[in-house]
Amino acid sequence: MRTLITGASSGLGAEMARQLAARGHDLALTARRTDRLDDLRAEIGETSPGVRVATAPLDVTELATVPRVVDGLRAELGGLERVVVNAGAGKGRPIGSGRPDANIETLMTNVVGALATMEAAMAVFRDQGHGHLVVVSSVMSVRAMPRHMTAYAASKAAVARLAEGVRAEVDAGDLAGRVRVTVLHPGYIVSEMTGAKSGRTPLMVDTETGVRAMVEAIEKEVPRAYLPRWPWEVLARVLAVAPPRLARRLG
Ligand SMILES: NC(=O)c1ccc[n+]([C@@H]2O[C@H](COP(=O)([O-])OP(=O)(O)OC[C@H]3O[C@@H](n4cnc5c(N)ncnc54)[C@H](OP(=O)(O)O)[C@@H]3O)[C@@H](O)[C@H]2O)c1
Repeated sequence: MRTLITGASSGLGAEMARQLAARGHDLALTARRTDRLDDLRAEIGETSPGVRVATAPLDVTELATVPRVVDGLRAELGGLERVVVNAGAGKGRPIGSGRPDANIETLMTNVVGALATMEAAMAVFRDQGHGHLVVVSSVMSVRAMPRHMTAYAASKAAVARLAEGVRAEVDAGDLAGRVRVTVLHPGYIVSEMTGAKSGRTPLMVDTETGVRAMVEAIEKEVPRAYLPRWPWEVLARVLAVAPPRLARRLG
């Protein structure tokens, strides 16, 4: 299995790379901080010898660059069976509070950059006639959120809808059963974005535990998953219908 991961320089992306490498997957890793990718490649070289790791600098908001980088990594590995659309930003601010840049960056990265990555991945999968598209959304996608979460929650709803649209398209055509789409909705997992250590809230899990749940869902190629399954399969349903005061506490 040859898997490309965007946003592999930290957090969930880097840990997915470690855990997929441990399962023997060859990897194409991208992010803006290439020094981190170099360190990760060296680490995987020691822990999972025999696994091939290709790296490339990629800012997913540089839209014309995205297909070039994806195609280049596909050529370097000799094919790509899976693309994980993971790169994301969580810098939102209340709308109208004087920081439109933070919200625009969130939407540019999480929606437009993710769409550019999906376009490039699906072009590869259409060309080769098979592939697995994995999109990292969030439990925050299930409802509108206030304050600093408004843009982020909307971006994660949009990216999930885009991926579900791709699935609907694929399932209705010649690629049905040969191209699969997985949408992951993680809860709270320790990373640079969450900026927290496990234990700060009982809902926050450490990176290894959270990503193990993500990797299991990826490997099973499920259509969608709320992760870790307990408690988020239940809490996502609660969050979707909760009164605003409770939703604010979960967000
Ligand atoms: N941690 C959680 O609890 C949680 C929950 C739900 C969903 N998620 C989602 O999981 C994904 C990974 O986030 P994380 O929690 O692991 O946070 P993180 O540690 O901050 O990682 C974010 C990754 O995205 C990359 N990135 C950001 N902007 C980028 C851009 N313009 N172009 C390319 N890469 C970019 C970063 O790399 P560079 O800065 O090196 O480019 C980094 O590797 C995100 O989509 C996030 O929304 C996380």
